[in-house]
Amino acid sequence: MTQYKHVWKRRMLRRFVRIFASVQSQTNLKAAHRSLCSAACPGITVKSTMEPKLYRTPPEVRGMTSLDKEAFAQTITVPALQVPTVVLNKVVKSLKKSTIQRPGVPRVVQDKEESSDLRLVLLDPHRVSSFSSFNEAETEALRAFGVAEELHYYELKLTYDNLKTEEVLEAVLPEGQDVTSGFSRVGHIAHMNLREHQLPYRNLIGQVIMDKNPGVTCVVNKTSIIDSTFRNFKMEVLAGEENMVAKVKENGVSFEFDFSRVYWNPRLSTEHQRVVQLVKRGDTVFDVFAGVGPFAIPAARLGANVLANDLNPESYRWLQHNCKLNKVESKVRTFNLDGRAFIKGPLKQELLALLKGKANIHVVMNLPALALDFLDAFRGLLHQEPPCEENLPTVHCYGFFKDNNPDTEVVGRASRSLGFALEKGCSVHFVRNVAPNKDMMCVRFTLPKEVLYCSDDNYTEPSEEPAPKRQKCEETTHST
Ligand SMILES: C[S@@+](CC[C@H](N)C(=O)[O-])C[C@H]1O[C@@H](n2cnc3c(N)ncnc32)[C@H](O)[C@@H]1O
Repeated sequence: MTQYKHVWKRRMLRRFVRIFASVQSQTNLKAAHRSLCSAACPGITVKSTMEPKLYRTPPEVRGMTSLDKEAFAQTITVPALQVPTVVLNKVVKSLKKSTIQRPGVPRVVQDKEESSDLRLVLLDPHRVSSFSSFNEAETEALRAFGVAEELHYYELKLTYDNLKTEEVLEAVLPEGQDVTSGFSRVGHIAHMNLREHQLPYRNLIGQVIMDKNPGVTCVVNKTSIIDSTFRNFKMEVLAGEENMVAKVKENGVSFEFDFSRVYWNPRLSTEHQRVVQLVKRGDTVFDVFAGVGPFAIPAARLGANVLANDLNPESYRWLQHNCKLNKVESKVRTFNLDGRAFIKGPLKQELLALLKGKANIHVVMNLPALALDFLDAFRGLLHQEPPCEENLPTVHCYGFFKDNNPDTEVVGRASRSLGFALEKGCSVHFVRNVAPNKDMMCVRFTLPKEVLYCSDDNYTEPSEEPAPKRQKCEETTHST
């Protein structure tokens, strides 16, 4: 009998703790809200008067450098509605905006009596503080479904798993400091660019990014500015496996490469697609700075004949690998040369015959820091040949600009390098903003016969003169 009493007492106590329905007042809930308000929004510091947060982090996690997930656990009180199971789905649907929305937290739980015909629908405490918090449509739906107009309260245990990345980092990093935790995803690798003040927490940040992003099994941080020659950068593994060989799909094409040794930028997929769409079956594409093949391989898959070159032996190796992977080895000839040597060698040899044909010729030059300077390699390239102006190549050349007038500047720099003022048949495309006040641009033009067939005697080294007056371009296009 005594044993029975204990069991009964324990049960009652548990119920009392789990559901505050009968004891918790609105005042309590409002007080809880007020205390939750002190947390901040992802990436920015907010004042207590701004949007409240569900979770108030335990102060002892501040300054943590090795992740202790248990320390983030906290029990909070949330409002709830007792809903008959027969109308449960309909009620949840009607309250879409007012129910609790948190990773791994159920919106529906057993009610306090653990009855089979009633459930508790958990509500977002920031939206619902009393029954009058529901909007007209919600109130109408609740009445129509016969839901009692009474708020219950449920004690909900939130753990590390229920928190968002920014919430964890905001709780750990020094108060008031930027916790922005953006990263680029390259296959299983999350690539970060941490700031100085985040470095002491880098391993913890890496672990959180890995935990919160399914499929990420390696987190790296850039440790140096981009390498000027091969456009890759040194990186440090912050969390996860040390496997740098990424497998990605871009515009439906598969690529594999060692991310630590070659250049790959997931933000260029739209640009790759834009250029590749201009290529037709039977065309020839010369990719002077091909990397691991994001222009070359899709173009070959469309039926173009491709000559792809990269000076980085690692890029060259992965380029060949990707040709095999995509079964286009027979359509792509690969070279491991400096860009100028490629233009003056394989490109020149091929060009002679192609100029007499009908199929289009494209030259892609994506090395934005330097590619415009490489245009001088076309000067007098065919000066010993009889001029042929039927089927001149289309050049797509990239550059970075800090100028206010990047479209004028890109044409100016291309013109200086070619030693010829590009006026007609030239278009400028904004590719992307790479940094505050730094744009990546692409200039497209038909390679002038005056450049290809000029004699070396007329050649003038590209100068650093001010840009010529704005060129007349066919179009200026923009993409993201
Ligand atoms: C910005 S990446 C572009 C790669 C690829 N085309 C893309 O769009 O992702 C430039 C590439 O040029 C290569 N490169 C750098 N200097 C070079 C040179 N002098 N000659 C040929 N390739 C070079 C780098 O190794 C790198 O792969």
